[in-house]
Amino acid sequence: MEGKIIRISGPVVEAVGMKGSKMYELVKVSDEELMGEIIQLQEDRAVIQVYEDTTGLKPGEKIISTGRPLSVKLGVGLTSGIYDGVQRPLNLIRDQTGDYIRRGVKVEPLIQKKKWHFVPLKNKGDTVKSGDIIGYVKETELIEHRILVPPDFGEGKLEHIEEGDFTINDPVAKTEDKEIKMYHEWPVRKPRPVTKKFEPSIPMLTGQRVLDTFFPIAKGGTAAIPGGFGTGKTVIQHQLAKWADAEVVVYVGCGERGNEMTDVLTEFPELKDPKTGRPLMERTVLIANTSNMPVAAREASIYTGVTIAEYYRDMGYSVALMADSTSRWAEALREISGRLEEMPGEEGYPAYLASKLAEFYERSGRVITLNGKEGSLSIIGAVSPPGSDFSEPVTQNTLRVTKVFWALDRELKDRRHFPSVNWLTSYSLYLKDVESWWNNVSKDWSSLRIRAMQLLQKEEELKEIVQLVGPDALPKKERLALEAAKILREDFLQQSAFHRIDTYCSQKKQVWMLRICLMFYENLLNVISSLEFEDIVTMKVKEEIARMKIVPEEEVDKRFTKIEKDIVEEIEKLRSKSSENAEK
Ligand SMILES: Nc1ncnc2c1ncn2[C@@H]1O[C@H](COP(=O)(O)OP(=O)(O)OP(=O)(O)O)[C@@H](O)[C@H]1O
Ligand SMILES: [Mg+2]
Repeated sequence: MEGKIIRISGPVVEAVGMKGSKMYELVKVSDEELMGEIIQLQEDRAVIQVYEDTTGLKPGEKIISTGRPLSVKLGVGLTSGIYDGVQRPLNLIRDQTGDYIRRGVKVEPLIQKKKWHFVPLKNKGDTVKSGDIIGYVKETELIEHRILVPPDFGEGKLEHIEEGDFTINDPVAKTEDKEIKMYHEWPVRKPRPVTKKFEPSIPMLTGQRVLDTFFPIAKGGTAAIPGGFGTGKTVIQHQLAKWADAEVVVYVGCGERGNEMTDVLTEFPELKDPKTGRPLMERTVLIANTSNMPVAAREASIYTGVTIAEYYRDMGYSVALMADSTSRWAEALREISGRLEEMPGEEGYPAYLASKLAEFYERSGRVITLNGKEGSLSIIGAVSPPGSDFSEPVTQNTLRVTKVFWALDRELKDRRHFPSVNWLTSYSLYLKDVESWWNNVSKDWSSLRIRAMQLLQKEEELKEIVQLVGPDALPKKERLALEAAKILREDFLQQSAFHRIDTYCSQKKQVWMLRICLMFYENLLNVISSLEFEDIVTMKVKEEIARMKIVPEEEVDKRFTKIEKDIVEEIEKLRSKSSENAEK
């Protein structure tokens, strides 16, 4: 069917002659065949958001319906891919058109000619159904790409399946009436089906102390990272991509400044997977949609990313999706909605902002896949509230649906306390769920966590008094609490993303560090009345505590045992010194 443009407003195009089209149908705009999606439909009039630059389009130019929704190609060759919002491979486009993406370029998302070695897991005569794994391709050193029967396939008996080298367009198996290839298409707006979703209960470990110990996320869970300008959202997302114990990472750079995405494009391919030493890209897919790319494509990049992530989940992997930043997507929704002259909601965002965000995060989860494997998809979205004001609509609507809140704090950032996660306002609703897992690492985990939190809260209360009367006016017990809280903040909560050792902290080391910080405090608290406070301030063991974070993992047992012993000994020394003084 062919329609005609009657109006153009930025990324939004109105057309007539579109009777018979469907909502969210993919269309080709003008002779250049720009990609667009129908977002409003009334009789023969359609409103289309165009995912490419619309400059120069004129009324009267044609629109061709494709009869298909916006879809992604899911199959072998996807891993290590670097794509734009509509799944065009950026490196291949660059080869064709240079650094600037010419509009209308068509490049297949998956490599067409390469032959992959397919190993079947089913036999001729087996009945297969939607979602089954019929074989695999060793795609990279880190990923075995499991070949799925498409989720909308139905059922059939295999008449043919064999091991061999195939391109993605060769059928690797056949039933009486259908072929199965090493890829299939899936519409991005439709969540991929699963057999069952269940409650997350295993932590997704990140090696970041403040996240793992204080505000843990579970595999299959959701987290929001709101933070004002420069507070460290991108650094945290990168740390998660590198260190989180997910088998596959999908990273969506959505509407961020060009150079930040260039960082991702040049930096990511150089990163090593810490566990295997292999390039991190061997288990990563990048979607890059920088601020200079068309705004409507931001929406597409989010959906493309989450659909790709679901696909790996369906293979039985634990997958983590990072989106940086969801605010840029919301701003795109606002712009499009404005051009549609819809009734604006809060701060000009459309009234459906809340439901869009909810639908996105609801695609997370720990699941039983159609083939009976367990998989998970965790979603972590950065939010960029203007002026660090968390009361704005994107932050608020995100918090309503995500279960972990890592609040990045401008004041902490100004003091160069990184990660600038505010320990008083952040929270995790997975604490109860992951507790039993952590208790296997160490029985005292919950108790340490609670005691540390109480100490930090006490510091907050005391801070007000200190502002009025100064620290010296406080009783020794309270001054000790301030001293210990400072140790917790500086020697435990602060963690440098850029230090070779400190960038990742094992769970065992985290528990041990926390135990030592609290032991220092609690042992002193028992004898504080008989000590001089000045002696505590200058204790030598404090230097050892401050260096705990850079103790290499393999030396932790030896060095930390010594620190515990040194704490006991130095306190004992102080005690005997002060009792001698008292006798004099
Ligand atoms: N964990 C960390 N360790 C050390 N430095 C950090 C850490 N987190 C953030 N920083 C510092 O803060 C700077 C800004 O961080 P980042 O770019 O992640 O902020 P952002 O919130 O993404 O900013 P924007 O709003 O511009 O996107 C970093 O370049 C780095 O110097
Ligand atoms: Mg950033």
